[in-house]
Amino acid sequence: MKHLHSTLAIVLLAALVIAIVITLINYAGNKPYNRKIALLGLISAHLQLVIGLVLYFTSPLGIQSFSGENMKNSLSRLYFLEHPLMMIIGIILITVGFSKAKRIVDQKKANQTVLIFYILGLILILSRIPYSTWSIFN
Ligand code: HEM
Ligand code: HEM
Repeated sequence: MKHLHSTLAIVLLAALVIAIVITLINYAGNKPYNRKIALLGLISAHLQLVIGLVLYFTSPLGIQSFSGENMKNSLSRLYFLEHPLMMIIGIILITVGFSKAKRIVDQKKANQTVLIFYILGLILILSRIPYSTWSIFN
């Protein structure tokens, strides 16, 4: 599960960057909104959410480390609180952006909506990745 979560993190980051770049190109060129490319980012995010939740309730770095002692330690606080919370907020933003865009008829507006929500979501996600322990860097 941990290995899957580490690997899917790369897939998700790549999917979000690709979705954002293609949507930006469509926005700038007044082209129609590409729902499929946004869906790629959405599905990766939802999959990562489910795997993250499983990890959270099974890993010793998850809910089990909820304590005042671990609250004082920045790395354990990242794992049991900041990482899950920020990732969930980021994924909610991406889902809201995708769902809003689905109902927008104006193509330029649809592209703009996905751009704003996906970029905000990506920033939140990037802000709380445990880079220092991420297996691809170690
Ligand atoms: C904790 C688990 C999950 C939660 C809470 C969740 C929640 C949601 C929500 C709120 C929406 C937006 C509905 C809408 O407005 O259209 C959505 C859409 C979607 N989810 Fe999830 N999801 C979860 C897991 C998954 C998984 C595991 C997958 C598949 C890999 C998935 C694939 C999708 C897809 C494809 C859509 C878009 C449907 C469409 O085309 O509108 N989700 N999900
Ligand atoms: C945007 C989605 C997410 C990304 C990009 C992401 C990324 C990562 C990365 C890179 C790691 C480090 C893995 C390693 O040490 O190699 C990690 C660990 C972890 N993540 Fe996530 N994550 C996401 C969502 C979540 C969510 C929603 C939860 C829980 C609700 C969660 C819970 C955890 C836990 C508990 C660990 C520690 C696992 C362990 O080392 O035992 N993650 N995550």
